[in-house]
This record gives sequence, C-alpha cells and structure tokens, in this order.
Amino acid sequence: MVQPRILILGAPGAGKGTQSAKIADRFDVDHVTTGDALRGNKEMDISHLDLEYDTPREYMDRGELVPDAVVNAIVDEALSQADGFVLDGYPRNLEQAEELEGMTDLDVVLYLDVSEDELVHRLTGRRMDPETGEIYHLEYNPPEDPAVEDRLVQRDDDTEETVKERLRVYRENTEPVIEHYEERGDLERIDGEQSPDEVWADVKETIEDAA
Ligand code: AP5
Repeated sequence: MVQPRILILGAPGAGKGTQSAKIADRFDVDHVTTGDALRGNKEMDISHLDLEYDTPREYMDRGELVPDAVVNAIVDEALSQADGFVLDGYPRNLEQAEELEGMTDLDVVLYLDVSEDELVHRLTGRRMDPETGEIYHLEYNPPEDPAVEDRLVQRDDDTEETVKERLRVYRENTEPVIEHYEERGDLERIDGEQSPDEVWADVKETIEDAA
C-alpha cells in the first residue's frame, strides 16, 4: 500500500481533525475534510437546488447536515484528485456511504470511540488559531505563546446548544454508518479517550498493519 486510502469515523469532537492532520503528514496523503470544505464555502449559493435553505451556513449554524447533493459533489471532486487520502467528516449517513462506495475503495476504516460527556467537554473547550489553522483546547491543549492565546477563536457551531444538536444528528444519521462498516468487518475501533499521543500511536500502528 503506497498511498493509503483511509476513512476516519467518529462523533463530533472525537478527534478526527487532530488525528487526520498527523495521518496526512506521516503517510503523505491528502486530508479531505467536508467540514473545512463547507466552512470555506459557507455562503455558497445553493438556491438552484430548491432545498430548505439557500447556503451551507444555514444548515451548519443549526448543527444540521448539509444536503447530500452538495456534499457528495465536494467529496467526489476531492477524491478524484488524490492518490491517497484521509477522508474526515464523510459519510455521515447511509446514503453518503453508498455514494462513497461508487467513488473509491478503502484500505482502512478507523473509528475513534469517545463517550458523549467527553465529546461535549472537548467541543465547548475547542479553540482555533485563525492564522495557522491549529486546533487547541482551553484545558487539554492550550497554546504556550500568549500571543496565540489572545487570537484564538471558537467555531460558530461549538456552542453548547449547537453541540447537543450535532450529537443528536450524529446518533440518528451517522451511528448507522458505523454499524454498516462494523457488520462488514471493516471497522478498526480505537480508544479515542486516551491522550492525543496515545491515540496517534494506535492510529499509526493500525494503518501500518493494513499496509
Ligand atoms: P465537521 O467539521 O466535520 O465537524 P464534526 O464531525 O462535528 O467534527 P469536529 O471537527 O467538530 O470534531 P473532530 O472529531 O474533528 O475533533 P477535533 O480533532 O477538532 O462538520 C461541521 C458541520 O459541517 C456539520 O455539523 C454539518 O453541518 C456539516 N457537514 C460536514 N460534513 C458533512 C457531511 N458529510 N454531510 C452533511 N453535512 C456535513 O477535536 C475536538 C477537540 O478535542 C479539540 O479541541 C482537540 O484539541 C481536543 N482533542 C482531540 N483529541 C483529544 C484527545 N485524545 N484528548 C483530549 N482532547 C482531545
């Protein structure tokens, strides 16, 4: 396996973004993330699709899923340009999982397992450096440089109310996707409640074992 095709699954806040950055760096693959792609195109005009809202932002700020037609096109385009990838944030429902099967094969399917109380704590404490894109946590992983600390921002959807809605949407739509891969015997379950370095050690070993 020269350029692995990796899928990373997990609830909001499970650490997918944190681990995907390390995977992309270590295995020299593209980090394909629907969350970042949609955040970069929040005001995209999707009114021609005649859906409930006219931009991705209106779905995201409510913690709801952006419609499949929008997200499938983003992933299809990104995967067609990547030799190897770590796919983060997709598929989020069974229809997207089926769509993905028509786009590519996968070498490894990772699942970061984290309890719900911990997820809420991680998301409400998450902050991002707008200059570097680096992810921090006020308690678990604060920046050392006070200048960085002063410029940290919170994601619009990391408020407690929206986090609860995102977790509800995850249970309803995405847990069946986890079960789907588990039933196929493809799912590599990783204890996501360990420290980031311990999670990374397990992630790295799992990918290397699949090579
Ligand atoms: P998206 O951006 O994909 O958000 P998410 O899946 O909710 O995941 P997060 O980015 O919140 O969490 P993460 O698992 O990456 O955790 P992180 O590493 O940052 O999606 C946002 C929205 O876009 C959706 O709500 C939806 O509207 C839309 N969308 C996206 N994809 C879509 C799709 N396919 N279909 C439809 N709509 C879609 O870590 C979290 C925090 O914990 C950080 O502060 C970090 O420092 C800390 N942390 C990480 N690991 C550890 C650890 N081991 N121990 C302690 N702290 C840790």
